[in-house]
Amino acid sequence: MANTEKRGGFGGKMAAILAAAGSAIGLGNIWRFPYITSENGGGAFILIYLGCILFLGLPLLIAEFAVGHNTKKNPIDAFATIKRGWGWLGAMGIISVTLIMGYYFVIAGWTLNYTIASATNAIGGDFGGFFQTFTTGTWMPLLFTYIFILANHFIITGGVQGGIEKASKIMMPLLFAILVALAIYSLWMPEGREALTNVFTPDFSMVTGKSFLAAMGQAFFTLSVGMGAMLIYGSYFKDGTKIAGTAISVVSLDTIVALMAAVIIFSAGVENESGPQLAFVAMPKVFSTMPMGGVWSTLFFLLLGLAALSSTISMHEAVTSYFVEKRGMSRRKGAWVVTIVAIVLASAASLSLGDWSGYTLAGMNFFSLLDNFTSIVMLPLLGILTAIFVGWIWKKEDMRKELTAEGGVDKATYPVIRFLLRYVCPLLVSVVFVFGIIDFIKNL
Ligand code: PFF
Repeated sequence: MANTEKRGGFGGKMAAILAAAGSAIGLGNIWRFPYITSENGGGAFILIYLGCILFLGLPLLIAEFAVGHNTKKNPIDAFATIKRGWGWLGAMGIISVTLIMGYYFVIAGWTLNYTIASATNAIGGDFGGFFQTFTTGTWMPLLFTYIFILANHFIITGGVQGGIEKASKIMMPLLFAILVALAIYSLWMPEGREALTNVFTPDFSMVTGKSFLAAMGQAFFTLSVGMGAMLIYGSYFKDGTKIAGTAISVVSLDTIVALMAAVIIFSAGVENESGPQLAFVAMPKVFSTMPMGGVWSTLFFLLLGLAALSSTISMHEAVTSYFVEKRGMSRRKGAWVVTIVAIVLASAASLSLGDWSGYTLAGMNFFSLLDNFTSIVMLPLLGILTAIFVGWIWKKEDMRKELTAEGGVDKATYPVIRFLLRYVCPLLVSVVFVFGIIDFIKNL
């Protein structure tokens, strides 16, 4: 609390958009979205997903930005300032985002190895074998994960403006440039265009109740909502930053990137492959048959790595802000605590794919436990609670003022957002949540 006066902040509106878009755009868009789409009926799934983004994700993102911006505090103090006794909601977000870091950093480390291996032509001809040997190994995946975590640490200790903002301003334009280059290249190939039409043609027969759960989970994950990451960024918005406008920009950029990633991946003709291996096994294989494949493969994994880095800094920052503002640590020290926790969790997650794969709970190794627990339980739960908090607990007048403040939501849209937060989000997310849990338990 003592540090609130020295709090950092973003220099301007563009910085706010780039940093928040950086948090949103990540492995979720480029690695997860394409394979979930192919497993759930392609175009039909995309339609459901877009509905979830618009009616659930966007209002929740606006709500989270508003709580942060209104209080200018870390997630725990932010909720507690608006309503005493609600700090636990921020704490739940911080715990969840810490658990997400545990497995996310591992995949982020893989992108680093794949970038280098693509550039040096070291993947060889056995793509599945390379992935298997590498990810189940002991030291190599750990090494790359640690390098990635330390890069994060370095950016975080640079401060909000000198670290996060600066890194976002360099990384995000680079990320968009690579994405556009890859997309043009994919569409240029005739077989690419054909494969694409097949995937995007809606196949409603593949849509089941589970597809709705997958779409909603993906929408929350990709927008980083409920975890305190967007809240902390909202708390760094300069006065006059438009909450709703920023949220709309972030959602639009995030959606465009997800769709473009799907175009790139599916136009490569890999629609028959599925699961998490899509990006790491199928893509290098496809690139290897193309002219200048090594270059494109390097660019693809660099894209994935940049996207991961701009997301992990927001996770790290959400937790670091807690140690700095609530525990009175210096930024350097707070960042070290988070880095060490991340190293411990990520080490266990990485080893659980190989040496420690024998240790399981309900049939899941530690890596899958972190992934499933956060995406199936914590994300929907935090979504419901955040919507209830902003829609029902926050004093109506204060919330209205924050949301409609200069440049905010206009008078006509405000009631719509409020309605979505009060009724649609809690009810819809609860239904999907309960069915998801039942389904999950049945499949154990
Ligand atoms: N939105 C990120 C992605 O799509 O990869 C993941 C993420 C970032 C989740 C930050 C949670 C978070 F707090």
